[in-house]
Amino acid sequence: AQNQLWGGRFTQPTDKFVQEFTASIDFDKRMYRYDIQGSIAHCRMLAKQGIIAAEEAKTIVAGLEGILADIEAGNFEFSVALEDIHMNIEARLIERIGPVGGKLHTARSRNDQVALDVRLYLRDELKAILAYLGQLQESLLAQAEQNLAVIMPGYTHLQTAQPVLFAHHMLAYYEMMKRDAGRMMDVAKRLNVLPLGAGALAGTTFPIDREFVAEQLGFDGVTRNSLDSVSDRDFAIEFCAAASILMMHLSRLSEELILWSSADFNFIELTDAFCTGSSIMPQKKNPDVPELVRGKTGRVYGNLISLLTLMKSLPLAYNKDMQEDKEPLFDSIDTVKGSLKIFADMIALMKVKAENMRVAAARGFSTATDVADYCVRKGLPFRQAHEVVGKTVRYCVETGKDIPELSLEEFRRFSPLIENDIYDFVTLEASVNARRATGGTARAAVEREIARARAERRG
Ligand code: ARG
Repeated sequence: AQNQLWGGRFTQPTDKFVQEFTASIDFDKRMYRYDIQGSIAHCRMLAKQGIIAAEEAKTIVAGLEGILADIEAGNFEFSVALEDIHMNIEARLIERIGPVGGKLHTARSRNDQVALDVRLYLRDELKAILAYLGQLQESLLAQAEQNLAVIMPGYTHLQTAQPVLFAHHMLAYYEMMKRDAGRMMDVAKRLNVLPLGAGALAGTTFPIDREFVAEQLGFDGVTRNSLDSVSDRDFAIEFCAAASILMMHLSRLSEELILWSSADFNFIELTDAFCTGSSIMPQKKNPDVPELVRGKTGRVYGNLISLLTLMKSLPLAYNKDMQEDKEPLFDSIDTVKGSLKIFADMIALMKVKAENMRVAAARGFSTATDVADYCVRKGLPFRQAHEVVGKTVRYCVETGKDIPELSLEEFRRFSPLIENDIYDFVTLEASVNARRATGGTARAAVEREIARARAERRG
């Protein structure tokens, strides 16, 4: 049979496999609610402008609401022959209410319709993503609050560097998530303009009121160029870029959780419900969730590259290529949402092994910088202090001693500036608490940042 929506031009029906190959219904049906929401707003505008009769608009809106209820109840059969969500719904509308349903598409094209649907859909998903981001921030903050006294090794090059508060480490991720939320809000802000009214590409001959539609749909305004309106997928690319950065952060946290769960670090325990066992090794408890999130980061990066490559060099305005924007976008949305949700719960339930962290923090001469800073305060230029402590550490390595175990005589072999009060500076607590400036790991500084974060969350 001819396609009911464009049969006029054709003498042959579409080839069966071509139909399947070109259809997007399998993946774009998830936008049904937004397609209907957009159609209702468009239809009300058509009536307000006298382009269709008020009675006709009523019938159309009732028909669309009926279709929405049917889809929601699972009583709607999506058809590949009808290609996409837009034509599935329009064809069903005409079936339901008769030829008057054919008036809905006046002053509209699928090109501006799909641009609208994706924006509405992504706008809602961004709200969900921001809510999950907030939950993860909350879990990180709660871990910081519950473990304020816990000291762990801070690393550079994955070598013990200086002791830090575990809370400080959690708040580092809090900051990243905060920037990620900022990026998501930017995406939401920039996408929030109405593309409908662009028609196929050049605008429309009907006296439409775009501002009225924009207002009904909660947009901040309307797009200013019809060619751009139907060609622009920047907002989807921006989202995929923000999603990639977010996943990069989650993959770093994943990596740390995986390391920390190992017998070699033994810093944390993930709760059983978030781990799996081995089919052969009875002792195993594997951190599958962070491993999978680390792995899924790859597909989210891939989706960004897919979209950039898809859009590269496309001439204005709409091209069918652009139908390929949806699967990468949807996949990034699903992946980010799932990863955030599972991380929020997993972090909240993570057990911290404070004693093991402390023991590790004391290894590796982690307070060496504190001895150098001590010498500087006694008047030695930092470069010389560095040399003095370097030699002290070498002595420790050779004699199998730790810095706080050295006698005063031993310390003074390297610098006569060192006095008995050195012992007040080489404990883990002293080292941590000496770093008091804003953003440092001192308990007082971390408590200030927790208070600031708490205030932020209350909002
Ligand atoms: N399913 C199409 C898409 O996602 C809708 C727009 C189709 N427009 C067209 N001129 N064929 O891009």
